[in-house]
Amino acid sequence: MKINVNATEYTVDVQGNPSLLEVLREQLDLTGTKYGCGEAACGACKVLVNGTPTPACITPVTSVQGKRIRTIEGLDADGRLHPVQEAFLEEDVFQCGYCAPGMIMTAVALVESKKSLDEQELLDGMNGNICRCCTYPAILNALKKLTQNTTKA
Ligand code: FES
Ligand code: FES
Repeated sequence: MKINVNATEYTVDVQGNPSLLEVLREQLDLTGTKYGCGEAACGACKVLVNGTPTPACITPVTSVQGKRIRTIEGLDADGRLHPVQEAFLEEDVFQCGYCAPGMIMTAVALVESKKSLDEQELLDGMNGNICRCCTYPAILNALKKLTQNTTKA
């Protein structure tokens, strides 16, 4: 089966009905996306499927045929960081960083929605992403900056 990841077509083995996360990490060597809970409860494995944050751990790879998958590796644009990555770095958000790929991909979807987002909408948008290091205040600060930038543009 073919899947489109970060604008590249890959042929992947679907024997045993692997999850999208298994295929990304074990077949495509895209190990930026992390395994946390394995049951859609932590957000560590979130990638964008047609622009929607999606837990790759419970998503059968066969369900994403014909869809656009975007992972943390796909944010690189000619060696430049995505504005979300820049903002998170500026706020010194992460400690261990394990939640970072899922947090960032979820934030990318929020910021690229171009909506004007108030604090509650930001919190709702990030719901389902858990940080064991409790970096939530810094994440919220970074998201507020991004939303202000988005609305000013
Ligand atoms: S590993 Fe997928 S949501 Fe936790
Ligand atoms: S920075 Fe450690 S889990 Fe989020």
